Amino acid sequence: MFYQLGLIGYPVEHSLSPWIHQSFLKNAHLQGRYDLIEVHPEKSLGDILIELKEQHYTGFNVTVPYKQKIMPYLDKIDTSAEHIGAVNTVIYRDGNWIGYNTDGFGFVRALEYRYPEVIEKTNIQVLLIGAGGAARGIYAALQMKDVERIDIANRTRTNALKIAKQDQTKVKTDIYSLEESEKRLNQYDIIIQTTDVGMKPKQHKSIISLQNLEQPNIICDIVYQPISTNFLKNAKQRGAKILQGHLMLLFQAQRAFEIWTNQAVSIGKMDEQLKQLLEGR
Ligand code: ATR
Repeated sequence: MFYQLGLIGYPVEHSLSPWIHQSFLKNAHLQGRYDLIEVHPEKSLGDILIELKEQHYTGFNVTVPYKQKIMPYLDKIDTSAEHIGAVNTVIYRDGNWIGYNTDGFGFVRALEYRYPEVIEKTNIQVLLIGAGGAARGIYAALQMKDVERIDIANRTRTNALKIAKQDQTKVKTDIYSLEESEKRLNQYDIIIQTTDVGMKPKQHKSIISLQNLEQPNIICDIVYQPISTNFLKNAKQRGAKILQGHLMLLFQAQRAFEIWTNQAVSIGKMDEQLKQLLEGR
């Protein structure tokens, strides 16, 4: 079997996905290729899907600005993507294009990989900062674990309420403003930054101040450009353990690769290699 894979988005030229998936193909000893497919906003996504079918694509990833726009063109949407309201992975199976979302799952795998002891604890208390698509995916994926509380801190309260109302099952959730959350940092085992504040070219910004942080908790940032955000640098200075964003990038890709190939693949040395790639940028 030859795996014909790719990424649709606009722009896509700086994407790390080709490197990641070509490494997975190598690690799994599979034949295939992963192409960047730049889709100009004036092009029809319906036409793109016809072209990809004609070219025998196994599947593809979806990035900005098509993660939501692609949904009406697909034949089926997996619950992971329906729930989040966005698709990042598509597979062509039995004559149907099927959409998935691997972001939240990828985050949880990254956490388990770096800090396996923490995710095995019971009654875990989490603070999620931000209430966009990434936050929704992480909120949903964390519910599969033994998490007792996932509070949400966000600039716009109504957006945080939407996640809590739609997704809440057995976990407890309170909503805070960003300022309020700064006073409560020591109550959490894990704090996860999911906004793009701190990402290049806004790398000098930090979503909240960590000056009240005293507990040795785990602080995560999903931003990976730069790989050490200001937020993570501050966390480290205060004695926290940190989880860098490139690991979520790697593990959401691993999950996508498993969906396409139906087989497990190891990340091998890709954690270190990806770190070096990002540091060189
Ligand atoms: P994604 O799908 O990548 O998560 P998104 O849906 O646009 O992106 O969500 C972005 C999140 O970052 C939101 O929680 C947004 O806050 P609002 O709900 O108030 O819009 C948050 N965000 C983005 N820029 C921000 C800023 N400068 N200050 C505070 N929050 C910000």
